[in-house]
Amino acid sequence: MRPTHSELLTPLEEFTQLHGATVRRFGRRAVDLAFPNPQFLADPRPYEVLASLAAQAGPLDLRYSPFGGFTPVRRRLAGALAKEHALPYAWSDIIMTPGATIALRVVLHALFAPGDHIILISPCWMDYPLYLTDLGLSYTLVSSTHDKHLDPHAIAQAWTPSTRGVIISQPASPSGVIHDHPELQQLATVLKRHARAKPPLLIADEAHAHQVWDNTPCPAPAAYYAHTLTVRSFGKAWEMQGQRTGCVAVSPRLEPRSETTTALLRQMRIGGHCAPTALTQQLAAALCETAPDLKDLADLQHHARQQLHAAGITVLDTHATRFLYARCPRADDRAFVSQLADRGVLVMPSSLFHERGWFRIALNLGVPDLDRALATIGEECARA
Ligand SMILES: Cc1ncc(COP(=O)(O)O)c(C=O)c1O
Repeated sequence: MRPTHSELLTPLEEFTQLHGATVRRFGRRAVDLAFPNPQFLADPRPYEVLASLAAQAGPLDLRYSPFGGFTPVRRRLAGALAKEHALPYAWSDIIMTPGATIALRVVLHALFAPGDHIILISPCWMDYPLYLTDLGLSYTLVSSTHDKHLDPHAIAQAWTPSTRGVIISQPASPSGVIHDHPELQQLATVLKRHARAKPPLLIADEAHAHQVWDNTPCPAPAAYYAHTLTVRSFGKAWEMQGQRTGCVAVSPRLEPRSETTTALLRQMRIGGHCAPTALTQQLAAALCETAPDLKDLADLQHHARQQLHAAGITVLDTHATRFLYARCPRADDRAFVSQLADRGVLVMPSSLFHERGWFRIALNLGVPDLDRALATIGEECARA
């Protein structure tokens, strides 16, 4: 039996309660490494650009936007993505959304029908199962390999006659793993092998693109499989999550291309999902051709990894995102996270990401606060 809405929501709500209670109890002494809300900026450009856009804005800069976004903005995003993916995106292939969340939800609503089956890879972003359940879509959570890479054989094994799509994240969230060339090639082979009258769709959630903090190449799934929809989050890329800006990009090789974009645009309207605010769209356009400077994040990643290794904690060897994904010393990851919260340190249990036995640390703070939290994590791991 698959979990119901309520069974999926309860652990998320319980964690939110634990988070709020811990912040209230410890006040300024709480160290919040749970939800990714960084207190230091990897790159301050979004704030500078937003201030300058706001200072120059006239009435027409704040006007209504068409569903999907302003055409010049979409054109600029298409040009930037075309370079990154080496695919000829046109402006009409890009649909701007208020964050990756709405992009995902709209893709699932517009392009799948109740009863369709989708393959997810665990661990995965917490709300995929919630959206699928809400839309009457069934799913199977396929485990990743021990090092959290894709397991194409397991994906093929999970295929059913109703399977119509696969969702992956690249870089993967919450783990920070980058799926490499061979695994994307093997995934594409599995997808092509299952093409019937209608080829299965690949949803490549690239919310954490531009969060690769070393020089590891991060190949685009859309370059491997024609029927790919790529989801992006400018909020995540530039650490301005509250500005709610993202997009979905329909691969120029996806068939039928224009019917697909029409279905997505219609779903934006039916769902009452407007484009991001006018100024936020301009902000995304201004930033889309550059990548954030992640040098400080890279230093912090190396530092935190060293501290945790010294404390004997296993941390997944990864290259992207603001997260560290660490092995939990207790089988019950939620109990371990509560134990840490009792000492004022907030991290997230992996069961919220549909996998047991790990916890996720978001590098929201620099030293010395981070070191204080890492020392507590080390002590509680030793005690567990
Ligand atoms: C993999 C993944 N997809 C989607 C989202 C949602 O992104 P947004 O804040 O742009 O809605 C997140 C946010 O953490 C994420 O990690």
